[in-house]
Amino acid sequence: MFYEPQNGHGLPHDPFKAIVVPRPIGWISTRSKSGAINLSPYSYFNAISDNPHLVMFSSSGHKDSVTFVEETGEFAANLVSHDLREKMNASSVNAPRGVSEFDYAGLTPAPCKLIGAPRVAEAYATLECVVTDIRVPTDRHGKPSGNFLVMGEVVGIHIDETILTDGLIDVQKAQPVSRLGYMDYATVSDVYQMWRPRWGESKG
Ligand SMILES: Cc1cc2nc3c(=O)[nH]c(=O)nc-3n(C[C@H](O)[C@H](O)[C@H](O)COP(=O)(O)O)c2cc1C
Repeated sequence: MFYEPQNGHGLPHDPFKAIVVPRPIGWISTRSKSGAINLSPYSYFNAISDNPHLVMFSSSGHKDSVTFVEETGEFAANLVSHDLREKMNASSVNAPRGVSEFDYAGLTPAPCKLIGAPRVAEAYATLECVVTDIRVPTDRHGKPSGNFLVMGEVVGIHIDETILTDGLIDVQKAQPVSRLGYMDYATVSDVYQMWRPRWGESKG
């Protein structure tokens, strides 16, 4: 089948988010100017550069995470392991501003080292980020989308050393959770290696 999104898909549910999978989940923790703390999952999340280390998350509307990030210029992106999946989901509750999703989900806020936002103590890794840019993406006609794309430079990284094997991050120990389409999620379990080809070398 082929469809143009503007004309509808004719399927029971919009397949777009089920096509772009798996999406990593940035579990974004922030602190407001007045000190309130906030935690919410964002699957429009990814690393966009490693030199410098840049990450982004995108909010469908002006959610609390965006408000807090605008106030302080900082956020932490925590990563979600399989054992924390239910707590991650609980933290997506539409709690009133000022109510901590750490408390609601039963998670422990721990201090970051370089930024004021808290981190999830239970997470296997956290990226401490300083905001570099906040954009409102447009459609192809230049019409503002109502989404907020937050980009940040990673200034500090926490790693739970129990997920390391011989100094390498062992994905089978970390068990990162990813977002699929509909109500589906996946935990990484099938890991294999491939080496990039070099022009002129035999395909072996
Ligand atoms: C796994 C998962 C991924 C999500 N990804 C996004 C996302 O990428 N963008 C978004 O706006 N909301 C996303 N949500 C919904 C937000 O987490 C939810 O609206 C939350 O209440 C926002 O909290 P805040 O207002 O405290 O920032 C996601 C929810 C879940 C459970």
